[in-house]
Amino acid sequence: MPEYEDQVYEAVRFLQKQMKEKPEIGIIAGTGLGDIVSSINITESFAYSKIPNFPVSTVESHAGRLVMGTLSGKPVLFMQGRFHLYEGYSPREVAFPIRVMQMIGIRILIASNAAGGINPLFKAGDIMVIKDHINLTGSNPLVGSNWDDRGIRFPDMSRVYDIKLADIVRSIGVEMGIDIKQGVYAGLKGPSLETPSENRYLQTIGADAVGFSTIMEVIAAVHAEMKILGLSVITNMNNPDRPEPTTVESVLEVAGKAAPNLERIIKKVVERIDGTSFG
Ligand code: HPA
Repeated sequence: MPEYEDQVYEAVRFLQKQMKEKPEIGIIAGTGLGDIVSSINITESFAYSKIPNFPVSTVESHAGRLVMGTLSGKPVLFMQGRFHLYEGYSPREVAFPIRVMQMIGIRILIASNAAGGINPLFKAGDIMVIKDHINLTGSNPLVGSNWDDRGIRFPDMSRVYDIKLADIVRSIGVEMGIDIKQGVYAGLKGPSLETPSENRYLQTIGADAVGFSTIMEVIAAVHAEMKILGLSVITNMNNPDRPEPTTVESVLEVAGKAAPNLERIIKKVVERIDGTSFG
């Protein structure tokens, strides 16, 4: 593992050299949601390919840059585009940016994604606060020797997603007149989408939404003792009784339509995070 640690340190040193302020909030944009960057007052921005050892996103809908700047007056680190297991990255590679964030001093992670709706009460375009997850990827970024300086061997997962942050989102939803859903996110490896039988199974085991991201990052963030907010945009409904084809175009279209609301929510969440209650 020393090699992985060294790689993380090298990326951190590179970024710290250019950093004007020390961010404590990290934000990851999911599929079709990268435009939320437009609210950020950018001070520095790096293509992933320019950061030492950083993986490079291979998915067209993910721009692949790390942005530093301020949002609602607070310094943030923003990942425009992320890495997925289905691209062939190892779990540790997918979680690499989280390790970088950890060493930079990020303590709050806001992770967004696009997801398929499993809960029949949801509809395409809904925004869901993730209250828990089910890791169905068969992978885990903590497999291998434990990085003892950075976290414990067996992190507790009884409360992964921060209740206060979720409550803040729900009250913002009320203020904005948006019906914010909440639910359980099931993470699969992908990239093939779910069969009707898989969707029925997901319903049975208590999933409300399904996607191919977030879980590896979140597990690493739990290990790093970050407070976590997960937000899913439901881009399509996966009804096992009335299966309909899903295309990347329709996912991007719906994500794009939901993005402005997501952007407003994230902006307000950042505004309301105060150092004392999250210290
Ligand atoms: N399944 C998996 N990932 C997704 C979906 C889906 O239906 N929609 C958007 N991302």
